[in-house]
Amino acid sequence: MGLRSVDLESAVAELTYWLLPEARGAGLAARAVRLMTTWCFEAAGFQRLFLKHSTANIASCRVATTAGYAPEGTIRAAMSHVDGLHDGHLHARLPTDEGNDDGSA
Ligand SMILES: CC(C)(COP(=O)(O)OP(=O)(O)OC[C@H]1O[C@@H](n2cnc3c(N)ncnc32)[C@H](O)[C@@H]1OP(=O)(O)O)[C@@H](O)C(=O)NCCC(=O)NCCS
Repeated sequence: MGLRSVDLESAVAELTYWLLPEARGAGLAARAVRLMTTWCFEAAGFQRLFLKHSTANIASCRVATTAGYAPEGTIRAAMSHVDGLHDGHLHARLPTDEGNDDGSA
């Protein structure tokens, strides 16, 4: 898990996540994103968290939505991969979003 593009003035940050191949397929990333999100909102005081993934990365899209990050649209030619620039999806979550207080999102 990582935080980047941290803007302390606006209390906004970007989440990133990776799993080693042998750890994939068990839903661990969504669980980790939820835990990190709770810490970011409740302990660190962030007001907006966002994440981006290539539109080709279906697993990452699923992780984002499962962890309560609503889709906010497509960002064009936004991320560099070995085969060139990919379009991305932007997702975000706010402390006021539904489901933040019961662990369900
Ligand atoms: C993205 C990543 C963190 C997800 O890891 P994970 O927690 O093991 O995710 P899972 O394999 O459990 O997949 C999550 C969900 O996507 C679904 N999924 C995965 N690949 C899929 C595919 N090709 N088509 C449809 N659904 C797919 C899974 O079935 C699962 O569904 P569920 O929520 O209903 O259980 C991991 O694949 C990874 O580290 N990838 C490389 C780095 C990366 O892409 N990071 C994100 C950059 S934005």
